[in-house]
Amino acid sequence: MRWIWFILVVLGDSGQKRNLALSQVCQRQPTCAECIRSPYCAWCKKEGFLKKGELNERRCDLAETLKDRGCSYSDIINPEAEKDVAKNDKISSEHSNVIQLMPQSLDIKLRVGEPFEFNVQFKRARGYPIDLFYLMDLSFSMKDDLDKIKNLGQDILSTLESFTQDKRIGFGSFVDKVSLPYSSMIKARRHNPCPSRMENCQPAFTFRNILPLTEWPEKFKKEVSKQRISGNLDSPEAGLEAILQATVCQKELGWRNVTRILVYTSDDTFHLAGDGRLAGIHQPHDGRCHLDINGTYNGMLLDYPSVGHLSRLLQDANMQLIFAVTEEIFPAYKALSELIPQSVVGILKKDSSNVVQLISEAYRNLSSTVVLEHKGPPQGMSVMYHSACSGASLTWSTQVECRGVKPEDDAIEFTVRLNASHCLEQRKELEFRVQGVRDVLRVSVETFCFCECDDVQEMAFQCKEHGTLICGVCSCNDTYQGQFCECEQQGESKCHGNSAQECSGHGRCECGECVCEENYRHTHCECDDNSCPHHAGKMCNGKGNCDCGECKCEEGFMGAACECSGETTGCVGQNGLQCSAQGVCKCNQCFCNKTVTGEHCDRIVNPCNTAVYRECMLCINSEQNSAQCDNVCGEVRCKKQPGPQEYECSHGNLTYKVELDNSGHFFILYSELPRRIDKTYVIIGSSVSGIILIGILVIVVYRLLLELYDIREYHSFLHAQEETDWKNTHNPLFKGATTTVKNPMHSQDG
Ligand SMILES: *[C@@H]1O[C@H](CO)[C@@H](O)[C@H](O)[C@H]1NC(C)=O
Ligand SMILES: *[C@@H]1O[C@H](CO)[C@@H](O)[C@H](O)[C@H]1NC(C)=O
Ligand SMILES: *[C@@H]1O[C@H](CO)[C@@H](O)[C@H](O)[C@H]1NC(C)=O
Ligand SMILES: *[C@@H]1O[C@H](CO)[C@@H](O)[C@H](O)[C@H]1NC(C)=O
Ligand SMILES: *[C@@H]1O[C@H](CO)[C@@H](O)[C@H](O)[C@H]1NC(C)=O
Ligand SMILES: *[C@@H]1O[C@H](CO)[C@@H](O)[C@H](O)[C@H]1NC(C)=O
Ligand SMILES: *[C@@H]1O[C@H](CO)[C@@H](O)[C@H](O)[C@H]1NC(C)=O
Repeated sequence: MRWIWFILVVLGDSGQKRNLALSQVCQRQPTCAECIRSPYCAWCKKEGFLKKGELNERRCDLAETLKDRGCSYSDIINPEAEKDVAKNDKISSEHSNVIQLMPQSLDIKLRVGEPFEFNVQFKRARGYPIDLFYLMDLSFSMKDDLDKIKNLGQDILSTLESFTQDKRIGFGSFVDKVSLPYSSMIKARRHNPCPSRMENCQPAFTFRNILPLTEWPEKFKKEVSKQRISGNLDSPEAGLEAILQATVCQKELGWRNVTRILVYTSDDTFHLAGDGRLAGIHQPHDGRCHLDINGTYNGMLLDYPSVGHLSRLLQDANMQLIFAVTEEIFPAYKALSELIPQSVVGILKKDSSNVVQLISEAYRNLSSTVVLEHKGPPQGMSVMYHSACSGASLTWSTQVECRGVKPEDDAIEFTVRLNASHCLEQRKELEFRVQGVRDVLRVSVETFCFCECDDVQEMAFQCKEHGTLICGVCSCNDTYQGQFCECEQQGESKCHGNSAQECSGHGRCECGECVCEENYRHTHCECDDNSCPHHAGKMCNGKGNCDCGECKCEEGFMGAACECSGETTGCVGQNGLQCSAQGVCKCNQCFCNKTVTGEHCDRIVNPCNTAVYRECMLCINSEQNSAQCDNVCGEVRCKKQPGPQEYECSHGNLTYKVELDNSGHFFILYSELPRRIDKTYVIIGSSVSGIILIGILVIVVYRLLLELYDIREYHSFLHAQEETDWKNTHNPLFKGATTTVKNPMHSQDG
């Protein structure tokens, strides 16, 4: 059967290879071993494969390329990644033989830098046995809970019934370390740590395994009924320490290799690593089981464990943790749960009455999440995952998690990709497992890092008996050199030119001299007659020969790639001159002097601001003898134009322009401006008076409008006064200030 598998794998992989082909490049290497450590490279070991001057590196290339160059298939060394499925039992839920992860064992050989993929399937077995250990905080505040718990065993077991037939339950409890400041050390209090003397408490303890895992609910009831509440001083408890003991004491608690659930109930927070120092306990926790024969853990020797340590131990034991805690401390446990894989937190009612429902819900939540993880990848080996469950898009990530998995769903398929960045010294083992599940996939990985050539010959005839033939290459004895060890070493080699590489990297140094590859020549193979500038798709435009990387053009052609003909029509401007005699015509294009620009060099750069023109004009204007201005003007000529004229440039009362004349010389025409009134004062004067006038106008208009408004208001007032015809007597403003006094004493008189 195994060979069928193997063929399938090979077929599957070659399909994949083709997809990748586009992105494949091989970085050539000079020896076979180095070559196959370079991704996608293959090595040709054929004798006489190399042409004259070709370096050994040329034996290393993509297999396709080697074949095209005439290396037969049997001479190509190109090990391809392979997978051997050593154990591949089908997924099964059968009670006697539960298999949840497929395959179970793989042997993989891969090439460095070439990723290799394989598939893993997972399906949670239905009716898989469950071990559940109930860990309870027995500090005094949990008093009311304890009574409820006594009948709990039966309830939990019947709830688990809906998941599996094979289930067991255990019970343990914890308080805190028996030492100040955690617990009282007063003798009476130590004996009965309850707040009131009337109550009967048991002395404090750190952790106690009260009932190892059992399938009998009556036992649970009997043992739990015997429990009495205890008490301590501070509010955080030794919860993490209890979890640690319950996890690592596998034999003592009777854990089986099945689904393991630890239920933790508390109404208070927990002590962390370092808190032990308060009682002078410095020794960090060693992660081992320390129960005595009575199942009690005396926490006086070791510090509380750290979260990271605990988390790792839980993972190693495939423990799933359910925190059932009261509402006030929920946030603290939520944060803790985020640091511990395979743990959930639920809110416990004050009296723990909802704990059964909580366990069932949390168990469902835990089983609905599937996380595939790995252990022990060697350095330089990257492991990436992909699964269809985490969205259809093909994204690779270092962790894969499937949520919302239902028990009736099909097996989940994961794709794992391994990529080694360098050679492994020996076979390495990797372990893949799903969090909280005991099934393991063991993968043993090897890398192809050595060529297995069958033609290793010492003192080979092909190597002139001065060296060893390995994979087609002569490895010469100390004093010999050359492709076939044909040269004896002489003093200084002449193969190094200016280039850092021997023979500029284009030839082989043989007997102290460069033997160049095809198309290369010269002493250090620095000349390449095959790579010259191209133009219009042809080397040297087809109008020249390539000589040492430079085009030697035919008559009438120029340019780096002989792209220019001798034509100059494009350089001639309107004045009939080539580049206005102010530039050179190259490749039918003008290259102008600095002072001019334009397609035909016929535009003068910055005529008004260039000093030469201005100075020349001023000189000519002041000196009657123009010969004296020659050293100022140089080639520039200058002429005064009579009459009132105005040109683009001006200086003082002179106006001028610069031109190129018909023979391509600079030519200045200037004229004097007629005396003019200085317009500045006019402009300033007129604008100032304009502003004042507008101001006055605005004020006048405003005043008029105000006047009009006042008149209208006055008229309407008069009008209103006429309308209201107050009688003097009724006018409330003028009501008389009369007071009538009736004196009852005088009424008789009246
Ligand atoms: C559980 O599995 C571990 C390794 O997977 C093994 O070492 C241990 O002996 C097993 N325990 C039982 C009780 O089968
Ligand atoms: C175990 O319990 C018995 C009886 O309760 C007691 O006598 C004994 O000292 C205990 N052993 C330890 C190590 O605590
Ligand atoms: C279970 O999952 C649901 C939905 O994600 C969440 O609302 C609930 O609080 C979880 N219950 C527990 C106990 O983790
Ligand atoms: C595989 O590893 C090599 C070397 O580390 C790296 O160059 C390459 O990109 C990796 N390939 C993939 C697909 O991650
Ligand atoms: C080199 O050649 C000499 C004689 O030709 C031989 O004795 C010696 O073993 C060779 N050395 C190696 C390393 O092959
Ligand atoms: C401008 O170009 C012409 C023609 O190429 C040349 O003779 C002249 O010397 C150049 N003048 C300057 C100032 O560069
Ligand atoms: C121009 O200015 C110069 C001196 O600044 C003066 O001598 C000359 O008369 C002026 N020309 C005219 C036409 O105003």
